[in-house]
Amino acid sequence: MRMSKRETVELLLYDVALEHSAIVQYLYHIFLIGNKSLTEDIETIVRQEMRHLKWFAQKVVKLGGEVSLGRVEEAIQIGDSVESMLQNDVNAEEHAIKVYSQQLEVVKDDSVKKLLERVINDETQHREEFTELLEEAKSLREEEGRETEVDTETVELLNKLLQEEYRIIIDYLYQFFHSKDCEYKDIMLDLAVESMVHMGWLGEEIGSLGGTPKIDADLSPPKEVSLPERVSEGIAFEERSKETYLKEAQRIKNPKVKKLLEFIEKQEDYHKQKLLEFFRSMRRLTVGGIDGD
Ligand SMILES: [Fe+2]
Ligand SMILES: [Fe+2]
Ligand SMILES: [Fe+2]
Repeated sequence: MRMSKRETVELLLYDVALEHSAIVQYLYHIFLIGNKSLTEDIETIVRQEMRHLKWFAQKVVKLGGEVSLGRVEEAIQIGDSVESMLQNDVNAEEHAIKVYSQQLEVVKDDSVKKLLERVINDETQHREEFTELLEEAKSLREEEGRETEVDTETVELLNKLLQEEYRIIIDYLYQFFHSKDCEYKDIMLDLAVESMVHMGWLGEEIGSLGGTPKIDADLSPPKEVSLPERVSEGIAFEERSKETYLKEAQRIKNPKVKKLLEFIEKQEDYHKQKLLEFFRSMRRLTVGGIDGD
C-alpha cells in the first residue's frame, strides 16, 4: 500500500495530537505530585514531548498540510494516586511506541520514517524512566499528607489564569507554525514558551494549594486574518492579560500568590511591548513607502 501525501499528513496530525495529550497528562502530574525528586524528571520528559510535537507539526507544514493542535482526549489519563499517575504515564509511552511503530511500517516518506524512528527511541527511554519513577514512588509511598484545607477561591482564580495561558500557547504555537514572517515566527515561539512557563508556575501553585489544575481550552484554530490584524489582537490580548494579573495581584491575600501574579504581570507587559515594537516596524515598512517618511 502506498501512502499518499494527504494520508501522511493525517497520520502526522494524529501524532501531533498524541504528543499534545502526553504533554497535558504529564503537566497534570507535575502539578499534582509536588514531590520534586519525581517531578524534575517528568519536566525533562515534557520538554522532549514538546520537541516531538514541534517536529511532527513542522513535517505537516513541509508536506503542505495545515497544523491543528488537537488532542486525543481519551489518551489523557490522570489517575488519583501518585502510583496510578505514573502507571498511566508508563501506559502512555507504551501506547505511543505501539502507534509510532505501526506507522513506521506504512509510511513511505523517508524523512518521516527517520523522525518516527527517532521518536520511538525517545519514547522507549521515557517508558524506562517512568517505570523507574513508579518504583521510586512505591518505595516512597509517602504518608499522603495533602489534607490541608483547600483555598478554593484562590485555586479557581489560578485555574482561570492557567486556562488563558493554555489558550494563548496554542494560539501562538499555531501562528509560529504557519506564519511566513521570520521575525514574527520568532516572537510567537518566544511568547509561547514564556506562557508555558507561566502555566507551569500557576499549575504548581494550584497543586501546592491542594487544588486540581484544569488544562482545558477551546482548541479551534484561529480565524484567518491579516498579519497586522493578528498582531493588534495579540497586543490587545497581552494588555488585557497584564491588567488581569495586576488587578488580581492587588486583590489577593496570599503573599506567595500575590508575588507570583505581580511577576507574571511584568512579563505580560514585556510581551505587549514586543508585539507593539513589531507592529510599529511593520507599519514603518508599509507606510514609509507611501509618504516617504
Ligand atoms: Fe513524544
Ligand atoms: Fe514520551
Ligand atoms: Fe503574555
